Amino acid sequence: MQALDNARDRVAGAVDDARLQARLEGLAQFGAVQPGQPRGGVARQALTEQERLARRWLAAEFAGRPGYAVGIDAAANVYVRRQGSDAGAPPVMTGSHVDTQPLGGWLDGAYGVAAGLEVFAALDAAGVHTRRAIETVMWTNEEGSRFAPGLMGSLSYVCPDRLAEFQDARDAQGVPFGQACAEARADFAAAAREAGWQWFDTPLARPLHAYIEAHIEQGPILEARGLQVGCVTAIQGVRWFRVTVPGRSAHAGTTPASARDDAQAKAIALAHALLEYGRAQDDEALRLTIGRWQCRPDSINTIADQVVFTVDTRHPDARVLDALQARLQALLPPGATMDTLQNKPTVTFDGGLTALARQACRALRLTHQDMLSGAFHDAMPLAGFCPTAMLFAPSIAGISHHPEEHTAIEDLAACTRALAWCLTDLAGQTDAPPANASFTSTR
Ligand code: GLV
Ligand code: MN
Ligand code: MN
Repeated sequence: MQALDNARDRVAGAVDDARLQARLEGLAQFGAVQPGQPRGGVARQALTEQERLARRWLAAEFAGRPGYAVGIDAAANVYVRRQGSDAGAPPVMTGSHVDTQPLGGWLDGAYGVAAGLEVFAALDAAGVHTRRAIETVMWTNEEGSRFAPGLMGSLSYVCPDRLAEFQDARDAQGVPFGQACAEARADFAAAAREAGWQWFDTPLARPLHAYIEAHIEQGPILEARGLQVGCVTAIQGVRWFRVTVPGRSAHAGTTPASARDDAQAKAIALAHALLEYGRAQDDEALRLTIGRWQCRPDSINTIADQVVFTVDTRHPDARVLDALQARLQALLPPGATMDTLQNKPTVTFDGGLTALARQACRALRLTHQDMLSGAFHDAMPLAGFCPTAMLFAPSIAGISHHPEEHTAIEDLAACTRALAWCLTDLAGQTDAPPANASFTSTR
């Protein structure tokens, strides 16, 4: 125990602020809206060229080192693995996603991946070997903004049957997810072959000892309370709907009011009624967002024949979401329809793992509190698969999904030290050298 205590502290102490910052700034160049300025916004949606290049660049930092291997699975999730001494023991996993919103910030998802890699750098610098392998994963399509729903990679990992259902989800240009996924897999494997990286096979649903994800909070709580780390105990439920309101196109100037079937007018009235319902609940915890609005034919002087808009609703209590869903259904005008794009119930994380997160914060003298996550994360599906928890770093002014998203490097590094402490604990220190038995080259 003495040795493990010592290893956890040494690895946490070897986390390097400048190295972490350099990795994050390098990553922010992929899809940078203003090259050279990490805080100018990042446009790096799932499986686009920039996102695929970013993943290869991140993998390359460790892939060529002894004791490391890389892999990509059927859902195009990319793994960087630091081998343990016991090749048969299920690994400990960390990581997050590197896809962004159409115009996102530089830390959402990126931080969790960069932090996982920083723990590798710290383990190497501290000369610590672990019994279990540790893997940093880059999940595919967490955001759900290019292909809906979000969390496709992590959902496919825990439930491989879901992957078939995602294949035909299309982006706005009509590209199917299955095609984008196959291209990403092929070019990652080709890059690995060309670079001579160690490779390991990564079937979906491989058993995991534990999953712990670091992420920025994306909300205002930690900063407002002056705290360094959030120990996340649960993620609130989220439901996404697509509402389609039909009408009939006609000339804007000649069609009298009595003859109009105006999809815009009906959709706007519906949206107002829904938002009014949300306001009337007077419930600070209820989140209701109409984020996408598409109108056809999208012309100034033609009455719209169709409007499609999305509704994102969140709350920790499923009954509140049930009531909101029922109200939306009841408000639909004749002919309008609604489809559910995703429905993720509230999940509670593993008590043992959140206790470990608190223990890490205490050992490292980091100010912290337990908290609920307002955003969903890849840890959500993982929670039903293996012991799972999350660590949050504060977000300045709570801003996220926006170019101004930011966190001080000291706070990012502090949360990474807590992550390093937990991962070292979970993987178990050992004096034995890493085993290479699980490395294969069956590409
Ligand atoms: C993830 O980006 C979310 O919308 O919670
Ligand atoms: Mn995220
Ligand atoms: Mn996000």
